[in-house]
Amino acid sequence: MLMRDGFLLDPEVVHLNHGSFGACPVAVFEEYQALQRELEAGPTDFFTRKVARWFWGGAEQPGRLAEARGRLAAFVGARAEDLVFVPNATSGLNAVIRSLTLAPGDEILTTGHEYGAITRTWEFVGANLVMCKPDELAARIGPRTQAVFVSHITSPTALLFPVEEICSAAREAGALSIMDGAHAPGQIPLDLGALGADIYAGNCHKWLCAPKGAGFLWARPEHQGWIEPLVVSWGYREGADFAERHGWSGTRDPAAYLTVPKAIEVHATFDLERARALADEAERRLGELGYPRVEGVPAPFMRAVELPPGNPDELWARLYEEFRIEAPVYDWAGRRLLRVSIGPYNDASDVDGLVSALRELL
Ligand SMILES: Cc1ncc(COP(=O)(O)O)c(C=O)c1O
Repeated sequence: MLMRDGFLLDPEVVHLNHGSFGACPVAVFEEYQALQRELEAGPTDFFTRKVARWFWGGAEQPGRLAEARGRLAAFVGARAEDLVFVPNATSGLNAVIRSLTLAPGDEILTTGHEYGAITRTWEFVGANLVMCKPDELAARIGPRTQAVFVSHITSPTALLFPVEEICSAAREAGALSIMDGAHAPGQIPLDLGALGADIYAGNCHKWLCAPKGAGFLWARPEHQGWIEPLVVSWGYREGADFAERHGWSGTRDPAAYLTVPKAIEVHATFDLERARALADEAERRLGELGYPRVEGVPAPFMRAVELPPGNPDELWARLYEEFRIEAPVYDWAGRRLLRVSIGPYNDASDVDGLVSALRELL
């Protein structure tokens, strides 16, 4: 178990918001920075020989990027050729959503628990979003449903959705299943080959604790052809495969991608049972204060509880300004929620701090 010293987090702050941006262990961050230095010591060698050799066309030699991709693919139960690195889940989902051809009348079935930035992406392409309750979604799939879009673990409500069932219902009805797995890698075991989704995007910087800037997009082979990269560059050529078309988007720092194998190695040392038990404990203690958890199956390390009505922004600000506690408070569907995330570095004193701050503030 890595304790707080294994992370770079400010010791003056009670960090109960791993879910938003993750936090990178020192050992992972050092490798990331070493890669950046290696790049700067020889940019040409790094980009043209070490990272990947196919950038400027067809070479066979895989390079380090392919190695990192293979390690991530194994971690999420996928074939390497079905997965590409993207900077974050938003980029991966943008590539998919902006590549879809939507006909008038097509429906995208989704829930009210989705991440706002991705809902905006759907709105940007003019999608006809049909909101369902999570447990009614599978039954609501019909002939007009072009795609079903849900989070594997939801952001505002911290729930684990039964995506296997949803994907299987979508498949039966001939609808696409597009899964937002931003919170899944590192929080729950993944076996993308068996999950049944058509398309899945995930983040490595959240629960896998990779540096910011590492996410992935996975697609079944039959969908890889129509998903256009957000940026067209050298890999976009006749006969190019999924990895080539998405693999190079102009000169950018690939260190976060290359650090993912190290993040996987360090993640294996985390005591996940302990984190889960602490999340249960946080939920129990907040429940005792009269703040019940949002109904549904909870995510292992994240819990959203309902606070009495009031101004969420003011409470969020006061938690940080007066108590140096990072835990988001927000409005969701007219309810004031607080989300607690337990990272590998949290302990019972962090939960104590939150409970006593809330006692005082509410
Ligand atoms: C469910 C969900 N989807 C997508 C995202 C977007 O992640 P990113 O900002 O890393 O692209 C988040 C971020 O918190 C999320 O919670």
